Amino acid sequence: MQITSTSREPLARWIRQHRDRIDAALWDDGHVLFRGFDVGGLDGFEDSAASACDALYRHYGDLPLASASENVYFATPYPKHLEIRFHNEASHTQTWPSRQLFFCLEPASEGGEWILSDGRRVIERLPAEMLERFRELGLVYRRRFIRGLDASWEQFFKVGSLQELRDKIASTGHEIDASSENDVTVSYRTHALLQIPERDTEAWFNQVLLHHPDALPNEVHALLSKHFRRDQFPRTVFFGDGSPIPTEWVRTIDRVLTECAVRIETQAHDVLLVNNLLMAHGRLPYSGNRQIRVALGDMRDHAAVAAGELA
Ligand SMILES: [Fe+2]
Repeated sequence: MQITSTSREPLARWIRQHRDRIDAALWDDGHVLFRGFDVGGLDGFEDSAASACDALYRHYGDLPLASASENVYFATPYPKHLEIRFHNEASHTQTWPSRQLFFCLEPASEGGEWILSDGRRVIERLPAEMLERFRELGLVYRRRFIRGLDASWEQFFKVGSLQELRDKIASTGHEIDASSENDVTVSYRTHALLQIPERDTEAWFNQVLLHHPDALPNEVHALLSKHFRRDQFPRTVFFGDGSPIPTEWVRTIDRVLTECAVRIETQAHDVLLVNNLLMAHGRLPYSGNRQIRVALGDMRDHAAVAAGELA
């Protein structure tokens, strides 16, 4: 759903006044695009995000911080000429946001559209055999933290030593394999589909297209292949029993998510609010100095979902 203000109303106040309508739209359409509002800079964006969520999240290790309050992040640092493939934010970890907001400070001069794909429609279109396998086995994400490449394990897990890392994540089902502090591999087994009990529904909910070697852009795949064996890329994903996800299946996932996609051209001062439980998001290649900031809210965790509770 798109809501356009013709009189540049302050966004945070508008959200507070219409929160019920926004909450309903997030279940129906999976997203709300606010256009033409007076966002009020980064502070106003944070206020808007806080108004659209019950609680903002300030401990996310996968994005660089953009505000002193620690509630606003920079968008994923990724080469502008490459697409960021569809993913549900933090679905590869044990806690994830229900809601995610994006604020466009400066649009791209060309390209850079947001893309969203509805996980409820995705599971209607994926072959039953595939869904059954993903439901039954889940996924194992394996992330290899190599010093100087991507975020460090210290940043990602917010810890200062390997022992602290072990203490922090041992109880959450992670497996750690550390040959040294400069090469740490962490595996995490979790779901590929998410049960959403309050809507009695289920959605495609994962990061297969961000982690699987067959989903990487050719140039990234070629670069990594020079340094790593395919099953030891810095980020990989397998079925939950450790068996490989076939290339053909990755292609089918890619095709179906793309078929279910909506594309949103980005204008200055746009704020996009996304239901992360339902919608995978991504970003098309662009040129120019596109500037996006991000906020996350209303966290859920694996244990609560497994127990059938709502966070
Ligand atoms: Fe993201």
